Amino acid sequence: MNEHVQGAGGPLFNPLSPDFIRDPYPHYERLRTNDPIHVTPFGQFVTSRHADVSLVMRDKRFGKDFVERSKRRYSAAIMDEPVFRSMSHWMLQADPPDHTRLRGLVVKAFTARRVEDMRPRIQEIVDQAIDAVIDRGHMDLIEDFAFRLPVTIICEMLGIPEDHREVFYKSSRDGGRLLDPVPLTAEEIRKGNEGNLMAQMYFQQLFELRRKNPGDDLTTQLVQAEEDGNKLTNEELTANIILLFGAGHETTVNLIGNGLLALHRNPDQLALLKARPELMAGAIEEFLRYDSSVQMTGRVALEEIEDLGGKRIPKGETVLCLLGSANRDPAVYPDRPDQLDVTRQNVKPLSFGGGIHFCLGAQLARIEAEIAIATLLRRLPDLRIDNVENPEWRPTFVLRGLKRLPASW
Ligand code: HEM
Repeated sequence: MNEHVQGAGGPLFNPLSPDFIRDPYPHYERLRTNDPIHVTPFGQFVTSRHADVSLVMRDKRFGKDFVERSKRRYSAAIMDEPVFRSMSHWMLQADPPDHTRLRGLVVKAFTARRVEDMRPRIQEIVDQAIDAVIDRGHMDLIEDFAFRLPVTIICEMLGIPEDHREVFYKSSRDGGRLLDPVPLTAEEIRKGNEGNLMAQMYFQQLFELRRKNPGDDLTTQLVQAEEDGNKLTNEELTANIILLFGAGHETTVNLIGNGLLALHRNPDQLALLKARPELMAGAIEEFLRYDSSVQMTGRVALEEIEDLGGKRIPKGETVLCLLGSANRDPAVYPDRPDQLDVTRQNVKPLSFGGGIHFCLGAQLARIEAEIAIATLLRRLPDLRIDNVENPEWRPTFVLRGLKRLPASW
């Protein structure tokens, strides 16, 4: 036993344990109450209270410092691994001024206006997914319903031709382990490299296609920025297209899946939402708060921080931000934070992060989820989830979602 092991048996923060994956919320409550700036055996500082999480994400004394952080965690050689090299160019892992430059190149495609204009297309894709299964009487809400929508939308935004997409619908959803705050094994790094190299090969072909046949899509836009000279390098181009492709789907699939599970575990809330569909936009915020599909992000102290919740953070140390815990902090949600309430007022979940890295796709994800869930409730009002008590969770912590969610009607 050491100082990290206390409370009702077991370590306070053991995020890949099956018990934690099944239901992290009692663990978060123990952290918030007993050790709000917890230090892990790997020396990371874990913040669980809303005020601290929110501050760390927005405060300029914190950043990503990806290359140094990765070298410290593994060794200098880690940056020779293709998957780490590629991640080091993601805007998600970049600090200003690179971050500002990379984000500036794509931000226009994600404005509220542009995304609002996508509503009819999103509705069409959702309707097609239901048409394809409606006579069957049963489906897997993840694979047959939630998964196709965000993948189709991001493929269209990136200008991936329709006859190239089948491989993306079938591709594995295993990349999430790269984000978890527990070092990767050699085998996991090997798999990460393999997936990354395949993606690089595919996207180089797509870039060639878009250079020859420009379209009204993000890939064309970025390829032209690359040709322009000093706006971005080929490595940055490839890495950020891979990021956009990946960031947009697993997260949205899980917002839809976790939201549907939460509703079916709370039949009164399900009935209320069916009776009052105008509550849907607020309900999506509550789903984000109640069981976020992204549970954590992190920052590195760029200078020594004298006092964070009573602890000193040395320069270069990592601070993990437990978004899912902040979202249930009674200091911000005094009225039954562990209860799903689709009529809750002033819900401002931290699920999309904060500060300069605030999720680029937030509005797109909200609208996709809103249309998907509203249409499902309207068109399949008798739908029942086969096993609401014990669904099968994916084994990742940062990306929280279900492997499958069979349902019948
Ligand atoms: C429910 C769905 C989603 C959730 C919960 C989510 C969550 C997040 C979070 C927490 C961050 C910030 C991480 C940080 O502060 O370090 C982030 C960043 C980002 N997200 Fe999302 N996301 C979702 C959907 C999407 C979609 C649909 C897209 C794009 C199609 C997208 C693209 C991005 C990008 C590019 C970044 C990096 C932004 C930057 O570093 O400036 N996300 N997301």
